[in-house]
Amino acid sequence: MMAEYDWRPEQAAKSLNRILPQVEKTFAVELAQAVHEWPEFKNRLHREWERLFACLHQLYGWQYDFFYTLEQILNMLVQYWLERPVELKLLDEKREADPLWFLSENVVGGVLYVDLFSDNLAKLDDHISYFKKLGLTYLHLMPLFAVPREDNDGGYAVSDYRAINPDIGTMEELSKLAAALRNEGISLVLDFVFNHTSDEHIWARKAKSKDLDFMAYYHTYPSRDLPDQFQKHLREIFPAVRKGSFTWCEEMGRWVWTTFNSFQWDLNYANPEVFRAMAEEMLFLANQGVEVLRLDAVAFIWKKLGTNCENQPEAHTIIRAFNAMAKIVAPCLLFKSEAIVHPDDVIRYLHPDECQLSYNPLLMALLWEALATREVKLLEYSMRNRYPTPSGCTWVNFIRCHDDIGWTFDDQDARNIGIDPVGHRAFLNKFYTGQHPGSFAKGVPFQFNADNGDVRISGTLSSLAGLEDAIEKQDSELIEQAVRRVNLLRSILVSIGGIPLLYVGDEWGMLNDYTYLTDPEKASDSRWVHRSRKRWNAREDLTDQDTLEWRFFQEMVKLFSLRKTLPALQNGGMEVIHTGNPHLFGYLRAFGDQKILIVNNFAQDPQNMDADHLKACGVKEDVVDLITREGLSFGKDLVLNGHQSVWLDIS
Ligand code: GLC
Repeated sequence: MMAEYDWRPEQAAKSLNRILPQVEKTFAVELAQAVHEWPEFKNRLHREWERLFACLHQLYGWQYDFFYTLEQILNMLVQYWLERPVELKLLDEKREADPLWFLSENVVGGVLYVDLFSDNLAKLDDHISYFKKLGLTYLHLMPLFAVPREDNDGGYAVSDYRAINPDIGTMEELSKLAAALRNEGISLVLDFVFNHTSDEHIWARKAKSKDLDFMAYYHTYPSRDLPDQFQKHLREIFPAVRKGSFTWCEEMGRWVWTTFNSFQWDLNYANPEVFRAMAEEMLFLANQGVEVLRLDAVAFIWKKLGTNCENQPEAHTIIRAFNAMAKIVAPCLLFKSEAIVHPDDVIRYLHPDECQLSYNPLLMALLWEALATREVKLLEYSMRNRYPTPSGCTWVNFIRCHDDIGWTFDDQDARNIGIDPVGHRAFLNKFYTGQHPGSFAKGVPFQFNADNGDVRISGTLSSLAGLEDAIEKQDSELIEQAVRRVNLLRSILVSIGGIPLLYVGDEWGMLNDYTYLTDPEKASDSRWVHRSRKRWNAREDLTDQDTLEWRFFQEMVKLFSLRKTLPALQNGGMEVIHTGNPHLFGYLRAFGDQKILIVNNFAQDPQNMDADHLKACGVKEDVVDLITREGLSFGKDLVLNGHQSVWLDIS
């Protein structure tokens, strides 16, 4: 059979040749100042244009004024490239010479809320030394843009992508901070909340005033007909707060699509104007010095009747188009996808032409699962089959973040190893809300859905791992057990393939903070239990060696710095091994001549990995645990204490 003729390369080139001379005329004055750099930009444009064209054609090619869209976009690319500060262009060059820099063992991430951590951006500058002491090279600042004063979903309802929330600072301060961080080898990561805006965004306000152009920025409907048809297939994301995914807007006299809260209006990417406008916001942020954009709620950006409107092919096309534009204008910019969906769908966002990074919600959920069951079969089975990522991409691993924990494992994976997924999720929810006999966890239910009994879990790492309960009981043995659980999870976070992302506060063992219950704006959202302000003061206690905080902090610093000495921990890949023990989760990390075998005991009591299994993993002589520096003689079983993690250098 003859291959189908692909007309796109030719037409892409034709369009570019038609539009570019016009664009060069428009920017003639500016380009005269940039004669030396222009060829470099044009190289990138020619390199990426065909794939950008193909994405845009797929999304908008059917519209009569598609050529106008192309023109607009090309003008925008040139404008933002011209505006891009010199130091960022230098960074672009550096990253282009080493495009896989983020796979290095040296990359260690942290995430925090500016207002909770340091009140504002200006003061955050004073804490760069703290980040350095911890070893961070990647700092994600939670959404800090202008938002509605009251309801704003912790910053995820953005009213202006070019203005910082005045309580936190200014855009100028943000770019200054980005530069200061960059000078210290720390990359700035920000959210790109591109699925929705707040209902106070200028676009939403214009839509409310019935400006047709801006009404077309959102999905709006005069009656319940279409919303009802869509709703049949939609998942409810915040069922405890509201029913359904549509909100009546009195001013417009129309229903608006609101996947999350009623004040978060979903953008209509079927409208090329929305695509272009959001691309502009993206390039604007890139030009402030942001190196990684966390693409918020990626799964939801495209709607199609009769589907669940999650993970649609067009969602991928949109991100690929953004990726191509970033490669043209700001090649140092990376994307991280935030898709907290089924693992089959999560992995699909990972591609060098799409998101180079992705959160790894499956690992996160299964680490907690194994901690509760003390057995690793589901973790082991899922990771063996689902860990590999496309080359040039990697996971961003986390144990806790600002959101809840949902049990996103695959039902069939569970069944394959004899676990009933429904019953198991019910058990985990009971366990982590402290209702299961013998549970150590102090989690708080999040978004209980009365219709189907679903619930997710909020809580900090330490509280979920038993520290809060142990402290309440004033039981030193229980406290030690909790400390060991926390350290076990952190050891895996740091050693398993990908970028470890620390939820800042967990380095010193932050516990749940229940004060949110007294704040009417937060009380209905239990995620605030692990987003605490007052406890950041504990940072100052990190010199007192008698405190748990100090111990936690030291251990974290030690693990991060150990990671940076081990080339085997680069590159993201890992191989799950057979430990021969249902409580031990083990994997190999290797690079060049170095090979590290990491074994983690999820049981509370000591466990053995026998000599035969060790040999099968490549142990061929006496080895040393890099964490404790204790030796293991060849031919002997490896004995791990309860919740111990060992990193054996078996090179
Ligand atoms: C993401 C954020 C979450 C927010 C939601 C809506 O999932 O992590 O905190 O509520 O998007 O923007």
